[in-house]
Amino acid sequence: MDIKGKIAVMNWKCNPSSKEEAEALAIASDMDGVIICPPAPFIEAVRNKLNKAILGSQDGFWEEGAFTGEYSFNQLASVGVKYSVIGHSERRWLFSEDSNLISKKVKAAIKAGIIPILCIGEKERISEPEAIETVLSQLMASIKDIAEDDMENIIIAYEPVWAIGTGKNASLKEVEPVILGIIEYFKENFDKKMNIIYGGSVLSENVKNYMISPYIGGVLIGGSSLNKDKALEIIKIIRSTI
Ligand code: PGA
Repeated sequence: MDIKGKIAVMNWKCNPSSKEEAEALAIASDMDGVIICPPAPFIEAVRNKLNKAILGSQDGFWEEGAFTGEYSFNQLASVGVKYSVIGHSERRWLFSEDSNLISKKVKAAIKAGIIPILCIGEKERISEPEAIETVLSQLMASIKDIAEDDMENIIIAYEPVWAIGTGKNASLKEVEPVILGIIEYFKENFDKKMNIIYGGSVLSENVKNYMISPYIGGVLIGGSSLNKDKALEIIKIIRSTI
């Protein structure tokens, strides 16, 4: 399920409150290049409203069986999920998911035919070389069991944690060198061309900054994805810059 051009991943997090609101939001963002990741209870309702956008999930579990509250990537695939956000900073920091656990999810998603959108990012604002080192070590630990042939089947979401939900997006000047650092690392060590997107307070006012970079494959949008007008404006800007 390859998307041509830059992508917009809509991460609704634990929103909205009702199926009806989820359906209305899905209809408003149903455009090419968009991946909509609703909370699990609304996955099927959202899927039934999509014609152009692609269905995603916000997580998944690597096994099936006696794991109360979890749902597997195979189960997600069976209801039409094509992409899964994995290792979002809220999972890492609020739910104590470490890169070792995340690596099991990445592997299971790929096995189920789902493209992982693997999130990485430094917690505090640090220097550029430190940020590159931090995200690369997170990334390598999160894909430690992944065959080299599968690496290009992962979308990496570079999301500085300090920029998420704060309204303080990282500037292109801050983001681009880190993304380039990851791209170069994979090129040199594995001869792989990685697809990397940016996330963290993406708004209609700043999205264009990222889209002009040839190294940034798209954006992951949290807060703004919950407002129909703002989401549509962002999608339109992305489509107009590619
Ligand atoms: P935000 O969330 O756009 O509200 O900062 C981004 C995210 O979900 O990572």
